Amino acid sequence: MAKIPVAVLGATGTVGQHFVKLLLDHPWFELAALTASERSAGKRYGDAAKWYLSEEVPEQVADVEVRLTEPRAVEDAKLLFSAMPAEEAAKIEPVCAEAGFIMSSNSSNFRMDPDVPLIIPEVNPDHLKLIEAQKKQRGWDGFIVKNPNCTTIVFVLPLKPLLDAFGINSVLVASMQALSGAGYAGVPSMAIEDNVIPFIAKEEGKTEDEPLKLLGKLSGKNIEQAPIRISASCHRVPVLDGHTTAVFVELGKPASPEEAAEVLSKFKAKPQKLKLPSAPEQPVIVSPEENMPQPRYARYAGSVPGMAVVVGRVRKDPALKNGIKFIASGHNVIRGAAGAAVLNAELLKAEGYLK
Ligand SMILES: NC(=O)c1ccc[n+]([C@@H]2O[C@H](COP(=O)([O-])OP(=O)(O)OC[C@H]3O[C@@H](n4cnc5c(N)ncnc54)[C@H](OP(=O)(O)O)[C@@H]3O)[C@@H](O)[C@H]2O)c1
Repeated sequence: MAKIPVAVLGATGTVGQHFVKLLLDHPWFELAALTASERSAGKRYGDAAKWYLSEEVPEQVADVEVRLTEPRAVEDAKLLFSAMPAEEAAKIEPVCAEAGFIMSSNSSNFRMDPDVPLIIPEVNPDHLKLIEAQKKQRGWDGFIVKNPNCTTIVFVLPLKPLLDAFGINSVLVASMQALSGAGYAGVPSMAIEDNVIPFIAKEEGKTEDEPLKLLGKLSGKNIEQAPIRISASCHRVPVLDGHTTAVFVELGKPASPEEAAEVLSKFKAKPQKLKLPSAPEQPVIVSPEENMPQPRYARYAGSVPGMAVVVGRVRKDPALKNGIKFIASGHNVIRGAAGAAVLNAELLKAEGYLK
């Protein structure tokens, strides 16, 4: 099978580096172009990338010339992965979709637009049906599919099987978010060392809104938002990679912690049935240890490193009716960003949207 040529927009950043790493040996996709801002255009990728991964810049890309992000720079590609700041992505993504490119985007612009599928393949693969409406309404030959915010993905993955088994009325979530979630230049070391910062701009809104679309039902050309009350408090902590969330759920009917843990650990969905290359065998791993999950150990757990969420401390919540509480931890830049967009693209291919 010939591989599909792909480009990474914003390839020099934190998410872009993970894209490059995930795509270098991908069985279906082949890297055709790397783009970034004027700061990087014309430089070797190895010089332009603000490299933060522990291994070296891969030699296959170190000498590749970074191009300026514009449609003609990615002519050789069919599928574009976007990892740009949202304001920049909002300008370039529609131009690319209109020009016929398929965009699997990680940036937060357009996520809540009614005709833009916001997808976690284990949660709402049927929402891809919005693509036809998007192309028709906007007159585009291509289209845009989004993955959610990094914190949202980490706690919505375990919410999905609980919703299906018991119903959910309300969710309270407190996040402990890693430094890589803010990008390379995000948080000054003098601010975060020996500290916790109890504010992340725009994060609580995304964390409260996106789950309602993800867990909503497709009805014709619209998504009916899930009737769940969500309240979030988001915090930055001195961890390099891996967002951890404390989640408090009012279920629709009673369930013991053991029943909830069993539902979580048995969860398998479409990516597992389709055996998509980036799908972990178990999207939610339940840890029996009383002091887990911790991001240092959870971030690469499971059959596909970085793609599973580890849940632990599943217990009764005495403050809520039918209350269950747990901790969920996952890699914010892999399952929460680059890996999420790659898995979405694999789903697009498996479902015939990408040929
Ligand atoms: N980090 C995470 O865990 C995470 C998770 C989910 C979503 N996201 C989202 O993903 C996107 C990227 O995040 P990041 O953490 O990788 O940020 P980052 O490290 O700051 O990287 C930003 C990338 O965008 C490029 N860029 C900046 N301005 C541009 C412009 N005007 N035109 C073209 N390219 C431009 C940069 O190129 P230069 O190097 O040339 O400046 C760089 O490649 C953001 O929208 C972010 O909100 C991040």
